Amino acid sequence: MNLERDRGRGPRVAREFSVLRRLREAVGAGPGGPGATGAQAGRPALAVQGVSAGYGKREVLRGVSLEVLQGEIVAVIGPNGAGKSTLLKVVAGLLPASQGHVFLCGDDVTSLPAHRRAHAGIGYMIQGGAVFPSLTPDDHLRLASLVARRRGIGGTGQPLVPFSATFPSRHGPAGLLSGGQRQALAVASILASNPAVLLCDEPSAGLAPGVARELMEQIALLSRERALSVLWVEQRVGDVLPLADRAVLLRDGRPAAETSSPREWLGDGVLAELTFGGATRG
Ligand SMILES: Nc1ncnc2c1ncn2[C@@H]1O[C@H](COP(=O)(O)OP(=O)(O)OP(=O)(O)O)[C@@H](O)[C@H]1O
Ligand SMILES: [Mg+2]
Repeated sequence: MNLERDRGRGPRVAREFSVLRRLREAVGAGPGGPGATGAQAGRPALAVQGVSAGYGKREVLRGVSLEVLQGEIVAVIGPNGAGKSTLLKVVAGLLPASQGHVFLCGDDVTSLPAHRRAHAGIGYMIQGGAVFPSLTPDDHLRLASLVARRRGIGGTGQPLVPFSATFPSRHGPAGLLSGGQRQALAVASILASNPAVLLCDEPSAGLAPGVARELMEQIALLSRERALSVLWVEQRVGDVLPLADRAVLLRDGRPAAETSSPREWLGDGVLAELTFGGATRG
């Protein structure tokens, strides 16, 4: 990727250039935030306290509290429309909380804009993934490892490239990839930026079952190897619960149940009872 060369290649590239420039500015803005040094002892990597949020007058999240400890995977499951993606948007700083707070490694980041939270170590994979269509997979991974190096957490600068086998070419425009390939690239790029806390919104959506499982297992492996904290929204309940340390069921914008033994929710009828029965948080 050559940002100077790509300047002046039309409106789409100009827009991407502007996004990348802002990203580079954010990355170069100074020493890393709390995410650069990892969670402080005794404090959760991520804490959401009493968060309410919505769209216009419509309240979607109603007083959500949860924590993700360093190196922990917390799965968030729940019916369509329960507010799972909305929760991640609030944590990432893309949607303001009308009430409550978000803490990253003990620091209150509620008032920080999204790019500052990204700089502080929050990696966010939006539902459906997002890639820059005119950049190649290699460009994405180089950019992501540049982000990590500038934050002083990239180590050798070796990009982390799981799932590279799923790209037909690492040198063609990402806009020509299939939906599933773009999804895999979006995940690989975020992981290559070495976040302290990974927010992922259905990373396996659109992927063939075998590839989806591989990707999910890679995320879990990285979490274990690098003490990466993961807040993981997922519809593939049967695949994510065995990988998670804890799970939260979101229903109507509230945590309706949570468990430290996520596999137990895979028992006959357990989830149906939790989702549609009268279960309360326990
Ligand atoms: N940009 C938006 N503007 C207005 N309402 C929205 C917007 N995004 C989501 N909503 C509404 O907020 C509610 C929660 O949506 P959200 O996307 O958080 O659900 P979800 O739990 O992620 O669902 P899914 O499992 O289908 O992805 C839904 O009723 C949805 O219609
Ligand atoms: Mg969603």
